[in-house]
Amino acid sequence: MILVMSGCAKRVVDNEQISPEQKLVIKFSHVVAENTPKGMAAQRFARLVQERTGGRVEVQVFPNSTLYADGEEMQALRDGAVQIIAPATSKLAGLFPSWQLLDLPYAFVDTEAVHKTMAGPVGQKLIRSLEEQDLLALAFWDNGFKVLTNNVRPIINPADVRGLKFRVMINSSVLKEQFKMLGAQPVPTSFNNVYRLLEENKVQGQENTLSNIYSKKFYRVQPYMTVTNHGYMGYVVLVNKKYWYSIPADIRDILHETMAEVTEWERARAAELNELYYKRLRNNDAIKITTLSPRERVAWEKAFYPVYDYLAREIGAELIDELLREKN
Ligand code: LMR
Repeated sequence: MILVMSGCAKRVVDNEQISPEQKLVIKFSHVVAENTPKGMAAQRFARLVQERTGGRVEVQVFPNSTLYADGEEMQALRDGAVQIIAPATSKLAGLFPSWQLLDLPYAFVDTEAVHKTMAGPVGQKLIRSLEEQDLLALAFWDNGFKVLTNNVRPIINPADVRGLKFRVMINSSVLKEQFKMLGAQPVPTSFNNVYRLLEENKVQGQENTLSNIYSKKFYRVQPYMTVTNHGYMGYVVLVNKKYWYSIPADIRDILHETMAEVTEWERARAAELNELYYKRLRNNDAIKITTLSPRERVAWEKAFYPVYDYLAREIGAELIDELLREKN
């Protein structure tokens, strides 16, 4: 699915910056490991683009925050130091608070529900809002649902997190609030710092997807994991609008088509990898996994209700109501 507004995507613009003869180097910076859905999809995109443009376009992928960390990549994109980033949507919250809708705990039953929202009126409003800052969303990639890990005790009930420090992704006050509400202390920090913070016990826990927990080996320093599946984590593949329309139209079409194809592929890999890594974590003696009974899950849902009011105070109730109406 291509998320660039179709009207804009076909817009004819003066191509002042990049001539058709020039080789185009596109730097794609991201923060996760290569053996993750995002890491693999970025590489696949690079390979297919190289093939399909006969080498006219080279997409250079920089994984693991090697080029820019979380707090830096948006500025790098806006400055033109990189041309594609794919941050978790939560990290857009600093510039676009409404994107925190996707952070609301238990707002989506599965990834299909998220895709439906993103393709519907609520998602389109979010996507259009990016243009206010001259950004375009090329695609919306999945990771999956977050679970909790920690190094203190098995967490079964919401009260079990009380008094612990949890790392959360930067920029999203919804993520901070969900822990504060439960009497825990959120510590926002970049992804590349998480392992060290956990290892040094500066934070006792964190929330993340199975592919991030497995690929970054958090299980080595986090003996307890609870499959809460409380929040969705996905990515928006972003480009600078001005840059995008400086690319010759024929190349842009290839990039669009390839991105659409890779997006389908990425979503399938995300589901597959999270399942595979769950199995591997289950077979790993370093980590004890707790699953929730339906009754326990309801207790978590209820404990998180006030987060919805919190976000309504921050962005107004309208979009949240629309999301909830779509859901029912
Ligand atoms: C995190 O910071 O935990 C994630 O956003 C990393 C990622 O990009 O999956």
